[in-house]
Amino acid sequence: MNLRFLVGTLVVSGSLAADYLAHTYLVEFANDHNIESFYHGLELENIKFSPRLNMTYHLFRGASFELVDGASNSSLSNIISKMPTVKSLWPVGTHKVPIDTVNSTIPLLARREIQKRADGNDTFSTHVMTQVDKLRAKGITGKGARVAVVDSGIDYNHPALGGCFGQGCLVGYGWNVLGELRPGSPQPVNDPIDPCLGHGTHVAGIIAAQPNPFGFTGAAPGVTLGAYRTSTCAGIVYEDVLVAAINRAYDDGSNIINLSLDLPSDWSEHPAALAAQRIVEKGVPVVAAIGNDGERGLWTSVIPAVAHGVAGVANFFNTETPAIHVVASYSVDNATAQPFSWQAGNPAMPNISLPLWSTSFDAAPDDGCGQLPAGAPDLSKVVVLVQDEDKSSDCRIDNKLSNLGSHGAKYVLVYSLDAYTRALTQSNQYVNGIGMVPNSRGKEWINLLKAGHKIVVNLVIPGAAQQTVYSPKNTETGGLMSTRSSWGMSWELDVKPQIGAPGQNILSTWLLSKGGYRIDSGTSMASPFVAAVYALIAEARKTFDPATLESFVSATANPNLYYDGTKVYSIVAPVVQQGAGLIQAYDAAFATTLLNVSSLAFNDTDHFVAQHGFTIKNLGSGEVTYTLSHVKAATVYASGASYLSDPQSFSLAPTPLETVDAWASLIFSTTSVKVGPGASATISVTASPPAASIDKGRLPVYSGYIAINSTSGESLSLPYAGVATSMKSVPVLTTRSSVTYLTSWDSLNIGLSVPLPENTTFTIPVPTGDPNGTENPDPGLALPTAIFGQNVGSAFIRLDIVPLEVNGTLATTEVLGVTIAGSAERYPIRWYPGRGSTMDPFRGMLSDGRVVPEGRYKFLMRALKVFGDPENKDDYDALELPAFFLKYQG
Ligand SMILES: *[C@@H]1O[C@H](CO)[C@@H](O)[C@H](O)[C@H]1NC(C)=O
Ligand SMILES: *[C@@H]1O[C@H](CO)[C@@H](O)[C@H](O)[C@H]1NC(C)=O
Ligand SMILES: *[C@@H]1O[C@H](CO)[C@@H](O)[C@H](O)[C@H]1NC(C)=O
Ligand SMILES: *[C@@H]1O[C@H](CO)[C@@H](O)[C@H](O)[C@H]1NC(C)=O
Ligand SMILES: *[C@@H]1O[C@H](CO)[C@@H](O)[C@H](O)[C@H]1NC(C)=O
Ligand SMILES: *[C@@H]1O[C@H](CO)[C@@H](O)[C@H](O)[C@H]1NC(C)=O
Ligand SMILES: *[C@@H]1O[C@H](CO)[C@@H](O)[C@H](O)[C@H]1NC(C)=O
Ligand SMILES: *[C@@H]1O[C@H](CO)[C@@H](O)[C@H](O)[C@H]1NC(C)=O
Ligand SMILES: *[C@@H]1O[C@H](CO)[C@@H](O)[C@H](O)[C@H]1NC(C)=O
Repeated sequence: MNLRFLVGTLVVSGSLAADYLAHTYLVEFANDHNIESFYHGLELENIKFSPRLNMTYHLFRGASFELVDGASNSSLSNIISKMPTVKSLWPVGTHKVPIDTVNSTIPLLARREIQKRADGNDTFSTHVMTQVDKLRAKGITGKGARVAVVDSGIDYNHPALGGCFGQGCLVGYGWNVLGELRPGSPQPVNDPIDPCLGHGTHVAGIIAAQPNPFGFTGAAPGVTLGAYRTSTCAGIVYEDVLVAAINRAYDDGSNIINLSLDLPSDWSEHPAALAAQRIVEKGVPVVAAIGNDGERGLWTSVIPAVAHGVAGVANFFNTETPAIHVVASYSVDNATAQPFSWQAGNPAMPNISLPLWSTSFDAAPDDGCGQLPAGAPDLSKVVVLVQDEDKSSDCRIDNKLSNLGSHGAKYVLVYSLDAYTRALTQSNQYVNGIGMVPNSRGKEWINLLKAGHKIVVNLVIPGAAQQTVYSPKNTETGGLMSTRSSWGMSWELDVKPQIGAPGQNILSTWLLSKGGYRIDSGTSMASPFVAAVYALIAEARKTFDPATLESFVSATANPNLYYDGTKVYSIVAPVVQQGAGLIQAYDAAFATTLLNVSSLAFNDTDHFVAQHGFTIKNLGSGEVTYTLSHVKAATVYASGASYLSDPQSFSLAPTPLETVDAWASLIFSTTSVKVGPGASATISVTASPPAASIDKGRLPVYSGYIAINSTSGESLSLPYAGVATSMKSVPVLTTRSSVTYLTSWDSLNIGLSVPLPENTTFTIPVPTGDPNGTENPDPGLALPTAIFGQNVGSAFIRLDIVPLEVNGTLATTEVLGVTIAGSAERYPIRWYPGRGSTMDPFRGMLSDGRVVPEGRYKFLMRALKVFGDPENKDDYDALELPAFFLKYQG
C-alpha cells in the first residue's frame, strides 16, 4: 500500500484529496475587525503564532498565520474560530499546478533565426478549430482587456511576451504574492517574473503571445496581461496565497481572471472557491481549469473551477500534434544537401556528418534488438537508423539503444511508426546522441538505402541549430475530448464543466532560459484559451458581464461525440465531461440570440427539478422563428457495482465508464416560437428522469442539450445534467475490509498493515502537546490507527473515540445519539473530497487536547451523506472498527 501522511488534516492514499499545510490557517475577519484586533485577540488567549499574509482587499479582509506551538491545533482552532474578530477560519490547503507535460524542451545554447511560417491569416490550428481565426481576421484582438494570470508568474523578458514589465508593456501589471510570504526574499513582491516553473509563461503565451519566429500568436494578443505569482518552483500553491492573489488581481482592475491550478475537491465551499465566486458576483469573470484527473472517472473536478459562477474549462485535443524540431540536412550520393527536421532527444546529438546506416530494410518490431546483419559497418562511424518500438513486441526503445550501444553505436535516429515524433530518453548511458524522425522520413531513407544509395546526415547540436515547428494533423483524436480532462459535477450537483477548449498538445511560450517555446498539455492550457476568447468577445460585445459571456460561449459551443479513450461513440459526450462543448469564438461574439441561462441542473431523484424555464432573446433586427429539439448525450454509470445490491463493491470507477441507453425525456411548452426584434420568449421545459430500468445503484449521470435552431441560421444549445439516484442514499464510507479496518501506525508506515482483531492492546507513550506529534507522529510508534475508505464526498466527517471500559475518569458527551469521549485529533473535517481513505493514528489525545485514560475504546466514523442534514443522525453513514485496549508506557 502506498501511503502518504498529509500534514494538517488527513492521511489519504491516492491523489484526490485535499492537502493541508501543517499548523497553518486562513481567517476572514468579522465586521470591522482588522489584523491588529485579531492578533491582539490571539495574544490575549496566549496563542503563539507566526503571521503569514495580511489581506486587506475590497472583497476579503483577513490574514493567514502559523501556530507555532500549543496543546493541540484542533483545540486552538476551536478557540480561534469562536473569537469575535473571526468570521471564518479554514486550514490552508495546498493546490498543485496541474501539469500534464509533453516534454519537448530543448535547451537553447545559442539563439539563431528560427524558421518563419508564411505571413497572412491566422492558421494556428487551435485558433482555426475555435473560430478565433475569424475574429482575428476582423481585427479583434481583445484590445483594452486586462487579463490576470494567477500562476507561476510570467517570463516577461520573453520577446513574444513583450520583453518588459509595467505600464505600456504586454505584461502591464502584477505582483509576486508568494514573495509576500517571505519578507526579504530575493524575489521582490512587485516583480511577478516566472523564475523557475514556466507554467504561467506558457499560459500567458496561449492568451497573448506576440508574433514570433514560431509563427503563432496568442488568441488575444491585444490584451494587457497581469501576472500574479502564486506558485512555488515545485508548482505548489498555498490556498491563502491564492485567495490573496485573486483578490489582488480583482483590486488591480482585472477584467478577466484565469486560474490554471487546482485543489482536488468537488465542494465549492473552500476559501479559494468562495473568493472566486465573490469576484464573479462583482462582475469579473473567473475562468478555471477543471482538472486533469478525468481518467479516475466522474466527480474529479477541482477547486476553484467548481465554484458557483466560475467557468470550469475542459480540455480538447488540438487538431494538430506539434513538436519542436531542429533543422538538419542530408545528401544522397554526394548530391546537394537537402533539409530535414528531427526531434532532439536526451542525450542530444553533437555536430556530426556521418553516413546513415539502417539495421534493417524491413519494418520489423524487433528491429535493432537482435544480432547485427552480416557486413555491418563500425557502428561508431555511422548514424544508426532504427524503427520505433512497436507495442506488440518486447523490443522497447531502451532495449534497442542498449543493444546498439553494446555494438559500438554512438548516434541513433529512430523513425516513428506514424506521423508523430517525441523526445526520446535513454535510461542508461547507452549511446551519445538520440533523435527522432517521422515514419515518412524514415521510410524514404530506408528505400534509398535498400536501393543501394549512400546517405550522409549532417546534424547540428540542437542548441545551435535552426528550429522549426513540426505539426502533423492529429488524425486519431484531433478535436475530441481529452480523457485526462476531469469530469463534473460538483457534489452539490452544479453542472460542471461549463465549456471546452483546446488544451492537449499546445505550442506556447516557455522560460527563455529553457528554450523559450514548448508544447504542453492539460486543462491548464484550455483555461487560458477561454480567458482569451472572453477578451475577444468582450471587445466585440462591449461587456465583461460573466453571466452574459458564459451564456454566449455556452449556447454557441460545439458539443462533440463521446470518446472514452478506446472508441468514438455515435452519441455526443456527456455534459459532465465536455460542458457545452468546444468553444466557438466567432459565433459567441456575433450571435444575435441570448439565452438567460447557460445550463440547467436537474439535480438528483430526491430534488429532481421537473420544471425549468428559460428565455430566448432576439437581439437581431428581424423576426426570427426558433425551433426546439432535444439532443441526448451519453448516460454513464459512475460505478461498476450497485450500492443497493452490492455495497461492498460500490466505488467510483475509472474510465472508460460504462454507458447505458437511458435518457431523460423533455417536453417543451412549444417546439417553435416566433420572436420579434428585441423581444424575448419564455420556454418552459418539463423533464422526466430516465426510465425505471436504469440501475440507480450504480450512480447514473445523464445529460443532454436543448437544441435551438433559428430561421436566421443560428444553431444554439443549452446543456443540462442530472443524477438518476438519491445522493442521500449513496454510502459515503465503504465497508470493504481491505480499505476500512483497524491497524497499527508502525505497520502502515512500513507498508505491511494488516487488519487487527478486536481487543488488540496498543501500549503507547503518553501524548505530549508538541504539534508535530499531532501532525507527524513518529512512524515507529504502534498507535491504534483507523482506516476508512470513502466512496463519495462528504460535507462533514466526524471520527469519534467511543469509550467502552475506562480505568480512571473521563468526561463524555453525547453526539448524534452516541456517547463519546471526544473526536480524534484533526476532526471533524468539512468538505471531504471523496475517494481514497482517511488514515488516522490515535495518540491518546482528543481534538480538544484532553488525554484519555487507559481503557477499552473504539473508533466511530460518521460521514454526512450528500444533501444530508448535519443535525440529523440518520443522515450520516456510520461505521465503527473493532474495539482495542489502550495502555500507556511506563
Ligand atoms: C496590514 O495591512 C494594512 C493595510 O495595508 C496596514 O495598514 C497594516 O499596517 C498591515 N498590518 C501588518 C501587521 O502588516
Ligand atoms: C523534462 O526534461 C527535463 C530536462 O531534460 C527533465 O529534467 C524533466 O525531468 C523532464 N520531465 C518529464 C516530465 O519528463
Ligand atoms: C484570409 O482569410 C480571408 C477570409 O477568410 C480570405 O478571404 C483570404 O483569402 C485569406 N488570405 C490568405 C492569405 O489566406
Ligand atoms: C562521394 O564523394 C566521395 C569523396 O569525394 C567519393 O569517395 C565517393 O565515391 C562519392 N560517392 C558517390 C556515390 O558518388
Ligand atoms: C440540488 O438540491 C439540493 C437540495 O435542495 C441543493 O442543496 C443543491 O444546491 C441543488 N443543486 C443545484 C445545482 O441546484
Ligand atoms: C438544428 O441544427 C443542427 C445543426 O445545423 C442540426 O443538426 C439539427 O438537426 C437541427 N435541428 C432541428 C430540430 O432542426
Ligand atoms: C474483548 O474484551 C471484552 C472485555 O473487555 C470481552 O467482553 C469481549 O468478549 C472480548 N472480545 C473478544 C472477541 O475477545
Ligand atoms: C516540527 O517539525 C518541523 C519540521 O520537521 C520543525 O521545523 C519544527 O521545528 C518542529 N516543531 C516543533 C515544535 O518541534
Ligand atoms: C484496568 O486496570 C486493571 C488493573 O491495572 C487492568 O487489569 C485492566 O485490564 C484495566 N482495564 C482496562 C480496560 O484497561
